[in-house]
Amino acid sequence: MSQKKPSFSLIGPGRAGLAVTRRLLEAGYTLRSVIGRSTASLERARSFLGMVAPATSDLHAAQGSPIILLAVSDTDLHPVSCQLHQLGITGENSLLIHFSGLHTADWILDGAPSGCKALSLHPLMTFPTPEAGYQGLQGAPVAVEGSDEALLLQGEALAKELGGTPFRIETEAKVLYHASAVMACNYAVTLAGTSRNLMATCGMDRKQAWELLLPLMERTWENLKTMAPEEALTGPIARNDVTTIQHHLEHLTDPFKSLYRKLGQATLDLVPNVSKELRRILAEETEATSEKSQGEKRHRT
Ligand SMILES: NC(=O)c1ccc[n+]([C@@H]2O[C@H](COP(=O)([O-])OP(=O)(O)OC[C@H]3O[C@@H](n4cnc5c(N)ncnc54)[C@H](OP(=O)(O)O)[C@@H]3O)[C@@H](O)[C@H]2O)c1
Repeated sequence: MSQKKPSFSLIGPGRAGLAVTRRLLEAGYTLRSVIGRSTASLERARSFLGMVAPATSDLHAAQGSPIILLAVSDTDLHPVSCQLHQLGITGENSLLIHFSGLHTADWILDGAPSGCKALSLHPLMTFPTPEAGYQGLQGAPVAVEGSDEALLLQGEALAKELGGTPFRIETEAKVLYHASAVMACNYAVTLAGTSRNLMATCGMDRKQAWELLLPLMERTWENLKTMAPEEALTGPIARNDVTTIQHHLEHLTDPFKSLYRKLGQATLDLVPNVSKELRRILAEETEATSEKSQGEKRHRT
């Protein structure tokens, strides 16, 4: 006979919170309450979840829930958890779960009653909307972090119930782990936007520039599905082509030029046997700029 699943409350009915909640409902958990800040987010929760529980802005609605999902933004996590403990909403058997890649599980236990536990489950996935988050959870890696083995096992089981594939992350490693995820996800978008803006300086509008670049980007990501970054790299740096890079640098202006240089320097790490000349021209301006700014600093002091 299958065990009855515990009930839970959601605090923070945003993109991640709603996606996770819908998955837990499908896995047989009972939702006791949804607690949000604005009327708009509560309204969205009602329609996304086909509301099966009270939706309110009163934190007390989470009282008595064995599991409390804290899906507020990373900056709101600590203050909201402190409020929960101060108001006596958490108890000795409460399990608080947050979804931040940055913060450790224990970040939300400041002032908690003894016996209250915390887990961090971070889906290594991007959730632009609750619906996309719900879809994206299927097969997503989920980083599990907590203070003891029993909690970690519980976290792994929950991650699977969300549709994800759990893996453990060391408490001390979380900040750099999260920085890596930000680079892979957010800065990939930044790079796409910046490349489009540069292409738009070549006599076309942004829409056309984007349409032209998209197939190239799509093919690059396709290649990365089966190749390591070192293998997928093509272009002038992979070919040690100093002349092409020099041409680019002569014509580029900021903000594109400085980003091109920085990314070029990082690309060198992916290429074996890089020529000294290539290294030099990519580093040149950085050194010149830093010498200049050092000189300016000396001049000012
Ligand atoms: N989105 C992603 O791609 C993603 C992926 C993985 C992990 N995460 C993690 O998931 C967590 C939530 O991120 P998100 O992107 O889902 O944020 P979000 O869409 O901005 O949602 C945050 C929700 O928290 C509510 N809220 C804020 N303060 C509150 C309070 N004091 N009481 C009750 N509700 C409150 C907000 O309500 P209002 O709308 O009314 O302000 C909003 O509904 C973060 O820890 C984030 O790192 C996000």
